[in-house]
Amino acid sequence: MPITRRDLFLHAARAGAALAVPLGTGLARAQQQGRDDWSAVRDSFTLAPDVIHMSAMLLASHPAPVRNAIARHRLALDADPVTYLEANGERLTEGSRKAAADYLGVHPGHVALTDSTTMGIGLFYSSLALGPDDEVLTTEEDYYVTHHALRHLTERTGAKVRRISLFDSAREATKEAVAARIRDQIRPETRVLALTWVHSSTGFKLPAADISEVLREVNEGRDEDNRILFGLDAVHGFGVEDENFRDLGVDFYAAGCHKWLFGPRGTGIAAISDAGLALSRPTIPTFDDSTVFSAWYVREEPSEGNNGLRMTPGGFKPFEHRWSLPEAFDFHESIGRSRVAARTHGLARALKEALSSVPGVRVHTPAGPDLSSGIVAFEMEGRSSDEAVAGLRERGIIASVAPYPSALARLTPSIRNTEQEIDKVAAAVRALV
Ligand SMILES: Cc1ncc(COP(=O)(O)O)c(C=O)c1O
Repeated sequence: MPITRRDLFLHAARAGAALAVPLGTGLARAQQQGRDDWSAVRDSFTLAPDVIHMSAMLLASHPAPVRNAIARHRLALDADPVTYLEANGERLTEGSRKAAADYLGVHPGHVALTDSTTMGIGLFYSSLALGPDDEVLTTEEDYYVTHHALRHLTERTGAKVRRISLFDSAREATKEAVAARIRDQIRPETRVLALTWVHSSTGFKLPAADISEVLREVNEGRDEDNRILFGLDAVHGFGVEDENFRDLGVDFYAAGCHKWLFGPRGTGIAAISDAGLALSRPTIPTFDDSTVFSAWYVREEPSEGNNGLRMTPGGFKPFEHRWSLPEAFDFHESIGRSRVAARTHGLARALKEALSSVPGVRVHTPAGPDLSSGIVAFEMEGRSSDEAVAGLRERGIIASVAPYPSALARLTPSIRNTEQEIDKVAAAVRALV
């Protein structure tokens, strides 16, 4: 008997329902079996059990709710891509935007959906409406992505970019000294401050709220259209720290959802304030703001103004990933934001303490929670970081070398890891010395 489209949809729906085991069920089962909640969190990933995954800062594996949502949408798209897209596309895309907006504490109209942190940063910085008399202030500690997006801005507009150092040593830095250094370096021509929330070189976490307070004071003495905007590569705080867009006091926030949030690979978000929207311009034609397309259709100009939908690059996407974002935010919220932050900080602190007690190991990440997050960066006397990371990989531990000139070794404990794994990692590092 031929399989009809309806059969396929029913099959997709049933498969999705069967696969969709909510995390809550896993938690209840874990409690019945006398295991802690964190085992249930761990069990919702299909991670290779013989490997210690200290790699949350790189690329996510999908927890069950995200995997199941992707599978559900994929089955339906494979059955009939056009009908499924036409019937559900707008609703599902706006559902993803709303989930991101709720998480960040902003209106959905301020959220752009992207493929990655890199895409968000590239779209925003390189499209800023600045000129040769304007300056963007950034730092040596920022990542390649911010530096090169700003290089593209300079090439297009002539705007100047100036790099400063935030500190001499991440480990010795203080909130006050970092905020003071920013204050001292602001010039009349500075229009944008482009920084990174948690540095992937050392694991230093920026005192973002203190810096936005500095900007607030400076901006009080400026005209509205000359105020300094604060942009953040937020990827290594997003999905870890319990602070949202408003708490940080930023104008632009970009993050990939495929790292600490454990969201679908190839998804990202950017949130942009009113001032940020006024200074930025869409680069890739939107498919999300239908008013732009409708105007084109009748050969009229689109209405003035900018929004997160217009900043969202158009074109067809791997929609099964984009549409599974709500499940990633739900997974996170079902564990609890403050619990995720406390767990990640707790494991990172234990790892820093254990590594600090190994002779010949120097931890570069600040010790306290105010200036650090989930990344733990270190170096070993007598061994390059490449050698250290290769030695750890031989022992089944996934670490990485920071892609910066200082090239520190990095371990990133997350909600997927256990205290026992921290002990094993510290023992492996000790054995390598
Ligand atoms: C600070 C920072 N920004 C951006 C990225 C790239 O993120 P994405 O893959 O989401 O573009 C990385 C590393 O992967 C990073 O460490």
